[in-house]
Amino acid sequence: MVIALDGPAASGKGTLARLISEHYGFAHLDTGTLYRGVAWLVLSENADPTDPVLATNAARTFEIEKLADADIRTKEVGAAASVVAANSDVRSALLDFQRRFALKPPQNAVGAVLDGRDIGTVVCPDATVKFFVTASPKTRAHRRWLELVSGRPELQEAEIYKDLLERDARDAARDDAPMAAADDAELLDTTHLSIDAAFAAARRVIDGVFRRC
Ligand code: DC
Repeated sequence: MVIALDGPAASGKGTLARLISEHYGFAHLDTGTLYRGVAWLVLSENADPTDPVLATNAARTFEIEKLADADIRTKEVGAAASVVAANSDVRSALLDFQRRFALKPPQNAVGAVLDGRDIGTVVCPDATVKFFVTASPKTRAHRRWLELVSGRPELQEAEIYKDLLERDARDAARDDAPMAAADDAELLDTTHLSIDAAFAAARRVIDGVFRRC
């Protein structure tokens, strides 16, 4: 059983993926972590994320276990992740790990939940259930600002909003595996939904599919 959740930043897909994985006892992979990890490696060398050779080398030597202490949740790392993610060699270096996770989830879990931008379209086109999770850009910017502001009180919501729009545009316009809803994905707009309501809606879809399996 594989559940794919794709969608733009701060749409709620990560929280939903975590709740779904806990509820069904599935393993969870936040695939954005991989791109953030590669970006963090590049930035930690004071290097330029647009440099294709450096980014590809970082992706090829990348090990998720080594990220334990890395501060990958900053907006700078998010922006650089979106830049390295446009590089096809970086994407192909990270593809096997994601597919293996889905095929053989760790700790003998009976299923896997993967969230990202291209899970339903490229990484796991045969996923059992696919969601494309969205929310309005203003709502997403507000959520992201709330997440980040306690650590960085100088952050302006307007700046986060601008960054999000730039990142959405880059993630959706790249040639290789752009952010997109799979044709058979269930669309879930969380703009006016609490996390409980979004989770309940996702469960209804998943339980319906599981009953038919
Ligand atoms: O979900 P996130 O904000 O942590 O992702 C960071 C960046 O990584 C995102 O802007 C694009 C890239 N990404 C991707 O291209 N494909 C994925 N499956 C996941 C993330």
